[in-house]
Amino acid sequence: MASKEELSNIRKDIDWASLGFSYMPVRSHIRASFKDGKWSEGELCTDHTISMSIAATCLHYGQAAFEGLKAFRCKDGAVRVFRPDENARRLNLSAERILGPTIPVDFFCELVRKVVLDNIDYVPPYGSGGSLYIRPLYIGVGPQIGVAPSDEYELLIMVMPVGPYYKGGMKPVHAMVIEDYDRAAPLGTGTIKLGGNYAASLKPAKAAKEKGFPIPLFMDPKTHEYVDEFGTSNFFGITKEGAYATPASSSILGSITNKSLQQIAQDLGMKVEKRQIHRNELGNFAEIGACGTAVVITPVSEIVTKDQTYKYEENFPTLKKLYDAMQGIQYGELPDTHNWMFEV
Ligand SMILES: Cc1ncc(COP(=O)(O)O)c(C=O)c1O
Repeated sequence: MASKEELSNIRKDIDWASLGFSYMPVRSHIRASFKDGKWSEGELCTDHTISMSIAATCLHYGQAAFEGLKAFRCKDGAVRVFRPDENARRLNLSAERILGPTIPVDFFCELVRKVVLDNIDYVPPYGSGGSLYIRPLYIGVGPQIGVAPSDEYELLIMVMPVGPYYKGGMKPVHAMVIEDYDRAAPLGTGTIKLGGNYAASLKPAKAAKEKGFPIPLFMDPKTHEYVDEFGTSNFFGITKEGAYATPASSSILGSITNKSLQQIAQDLGMKVEKRQIHRNELGNFAEIGACGTAVVITPVSEIVTKDQTYKYEENFPTLKKLYDAMQGIQYGELPDTHNWMFEV
């Protein structure tokens, strides 16, 4: 655990109020290598570049997965990471699907602890609304020219401070249903976090943005009848009866934020429905949210499909309640009753 002295170390050369969500080189990242059937201990590295074989499988055959999670400087001065064990488990789903070695959950959490501690002065101060974004990257680095999994892998965990997404309170956005592209295949890799999934979403996301819709909404790739998820976040809605409803689908990422919000909704006495959501049901919601680590919840006030425009509450009272409860736990202002926070 970090000492009081370590925890009081906060950089003075960063303007915390103007931080956005972008790459910033910090002191170090941590790197563990898998070779000869085992993981190395994990070394802190100050060089922000990597070198590998030009025949590495991550470059040719997409053996590349990643994760995203955050550390928060809490009200009591401690620094805590939100549910790193869940990210470890999800990374292992990705690893298994691309025939790479899995990572023991406790080992992953210890690597996270070490890299956060080494960069503790980059964790934004409590009250700034910022956090330390943690980005694990898992890549096959051994050479292969025939299509086959690598024998060697690197797990890198990089970190960077990010600012509050909402500087003047939560702002709703408009979303557009993507009718002519899919981000995942029906039984493909949409449930895991492979780099290639995001390559597939770049073009439709750009087209939606150019039409004035900052977030694309994808339908299920098999029938285009059911709601899947937004480009980089899960879909959930508050029904007119007050239930929390979110899609069950074999092509969406299991969002840790969504899982946590479902628990919070239950704790608040709401009914939680995880089920298929038909596109014709989009008119039955009072509020719609996009949820994920980066923003927690983005309220969606309008969804445009090829033949309809649906409008939702502009002041989204339930989303606000869920958002406040989540941030309250993350910043240590509310009790962590489910033991989600991992202290470094
Ligand atoms: C496609 C997709 N869905 C959902 C999410 C949200 O997942 P999480 O809440 O674990 O960040 C993300 C972000 O990681 C994403 O990229």
